[in-house]
Amino acid sequence: MAPASGPGPRWLLFSFGMGLVSGSKCPASCQCQAQEVICTGTQLTEYPPDIPLNTRRLFLNNNSITYLPAMNLGLLSDLVYLDCRDNLISEVMDYTFVGVFRLLYLDLSANNLSSISPYSFSALGNLVQLNLSHNPHLLALHKYTFANTSSLRLLDLRNTGLHTLDDTTFQNLLTLQTVYLSENPWMCNCSFLDFTIYLIVSHLNHPDEENATCVEPTELAGWPVTQVGNPLRYMCITHLDRLDYLFLLLIGFCIFSAGTVAAWLTGVCAVVYQNARRKSSEAEDEDDHGQPVEVSQRIFQRRTESGRDGFPQLI
Ligand SMILES: *[C@@H]1O[C@H](CO)[C@@H](O)[C@H](O)[C@H]1NC(C)=O
Ligand SMILES: *[C@@H]1O[C@H](CO)[C@@H](O)[C@H](O)[C@H]1NC(C)=O
Ligand SMILES: *[C@@H]1O[C@H](CO)[C@@H](O)[C@H](O)[C@H]1NC(C)=O
Ligand SMILES: *[C@@H]1O[C@H](CO)[C@@H](O)[C@H](O)[C@H]1NC(C)=O
Ligand SMILES: *[C@@H]1O[C@H](CO)[C@@H](O)[C@H](O)[C@H]1NC(C)=O
Ligand SMILES: *[C@@H]1O[C@H](CO)[C@@H](O)[C@H](O)[C@H]1NC(C)=O
Repeated sequence: MAPASGPGPRWLLFSFGMGLVSGSKCPASCQCQAQEVICTGTQLTEYPPDIPLNTRRLFLNNNSITYLPAMNLGLLSDLVYLDCRDNLISEVMDYTFVGVFRLLYLDLSANNLSSISPYSFSALGNLVQLNLSHNPHLLALHKYTFANTSSLRLLDLRNTGLHTLDDTTFQNLLTLQTVYLSENPWMCNCSFLDFTIYLIVSHLNHPDEENATCVEPTELAGWPVTQVGNPLRYMCITHLDRLDYLFLLLIGFCIFSAGTVAAWLTGVCAVVYQNARRKSSEAEDEDDHGQPVEVSQRIFQRRTESGRDGFPQLI
C-alpha cells in the first residue's frame, strides 16, 4: 500500500474537513431530525458519510455495514446512542470508539464480531448499556475488555459463543445490575470456578438464568452457571487428576526411600556398635577368665588352710 493512500494525518485532515463541510447535511436515504439520524434498513454496505456533527442518536441498524471507521465516528463527540445491530461488523479495534466518549448506549448485537480488541471500550466510561449478543463467532473476551466501562448497568452476552470468562473481567463493573449469559456453551471446569463464585456473591439480575447452563463436564451439564459455583467448588477441591496422583506417588516414594535409607543407616550403626562392643568385651573376658582362676585358687588355698586350721585337734 502506498503511504499516501494509507490512513494517516493527511487522511484525518481530509475526513475532518469533509465532516465540517458537510456538517449540516443529512446522508442520502437517512432521516435526520433533532440531533437524531435514522438509517435503519436502508441497505447500507458501509458507514454513511455526511452525518451531522451534532448528532446525539444514530441508528445504523438493519444494514450490511462491515466496518465502523474510527475517524468518522470520532467526529460525533456528542453521540450518546449508537445502534449498529443487524449488520456485518466483524471486528472492533482499540481506537474505534475513542472519539465517542459520551456514549451511554451501544448496540453491536446480531453482527459477525469475531474479535474485540482489549481496549476497544476503554474510553466509554459513561456507557450504561452494551449489547454484544448474537455474535456467535466471538468465542472469547479479553479480561480487560470491561476494565474501564465502570458505569455499565446492563450487559447482554447472549449467543456469543463464549465458553469461559475470567472473574477479573467484571471486576470494575461496580454498578452492573443485569447480565444475560444464555445460549453459550459454558465449560464449567475449575478455571471457571472463580467466575461462578462471583456470580453467586454479586447478586446481579439474570433474566435468562435458566437457559444459561453448562455444557461440560457431563456431571454438571444443564446446571445454570449462576448456581453451579458450589458443586464446582466441591468438585475442584476434592477432585484429584492424574498429575495429582503422580505427585502423591512421588511423595510416597520419597518418604519410602528416606525411611529405607534411615533404617539401613540405623542397621549399619547398630552393627558397627555391636562389633565394637563385642571386641571390647572379648578383651575384658581375658581378664575375667584370669581372675576367677586366681580367686578359686585363693579360696581353695584358704579352705585348705582353714581345714588345716579347723581340725588340728582331730589329727
Ligand atoms: C431488522 O432485522 C430484524 C432481523 O434481521 C427484523 O426482525 C426486523 O424486523 C428488522 N427491522 C427493520 C426495522 O427492518
Ligand atoms: C440485545 O440485542 C438482541 C438482538 O438484537 C435483542 O434481542 C435483545 O433484546 C437485546 N438485549 C437487550 C437487553 O435489550
Ligand atoms: C462471519 O465470520 C465468519 C468467520 O469469523 C465467516 O466465516 C463468515 O463468512 C462471516 N459471515 C458473514 C455473513 O460475513
Ligand atoms: C478510563 O476512563 C477514565 C475516565 O472515565 C479516563 O480518564 C482514562 O483515560 C480511561 N482509561 C483508558 C485506558 O482509556
Ligand atoms: C477449562 O476450559 C477452558 C475452555 O475450554 C480451557 O481453556 C481451560 O484450560 C480449562 N481448564 C481446566 C483446568 O481444564
Ligand atoms: C429458555 O429457552 C427456551 C427454549 O429455547 C425458551 O422457550 C424460554 O423462553 C427461555 N427462557 C428464558 C428465561 O429465556
